[in-house]
Amino acid sequence: MMNEKVRELLNQQINKEFYSAYLYLDFSNYFEAAGLDGFANWYKIQAQEERDHAMLFYQYLQNENQKVTLEAIAKPDKVFACHLDVLKAGLTHEEYVTSLINEIYAAAYEARDFRTMQFLDWFVKEQGEEETNAHDLITKM
Ligand SMILES: [Fe+2]
Repeated sequence: MMNEKVRELLNQQINKEFYSAYLYLDFSNYFEAAGLDGFANWYKIQAQEERDHAMLFYQYLQNENQKVTLEAIAKPDKVFACHLDVLKAGLTHEEYVTSLINEIYAAAYEARDFRTMQFLDWFVKEQGEEETNAHDLITKM
């Protein structure tokens, strides 16, 4: 039986990942309007990746016979003063997601839930790559 706190955090992460997808679609929309097709395309691809992440958490809970509850996805409501602000918001968001993954990992560790820790290992590595990409984009801009 999965620890309730671990289950709750994994369930919340489905929503966080879908929100990430929505946020990056909003970024893509911003760059499309600004005529920067390359940046628009990059964030459209990121949005797809985030949807894939959401489905990994969804599928993991279902595979473990755990209850999944889908919550409302928040509206991306940031207004940006310039292109660089979008990219900086992207980095800040990825750092936040890293902190969420770390929080789930810590809860799984505390509950001695080694299966969930192993499931999360991929996300720990992925977050490192996401942060590096976000840094690189800022440098490019
Ligand atoms: Fe993600």
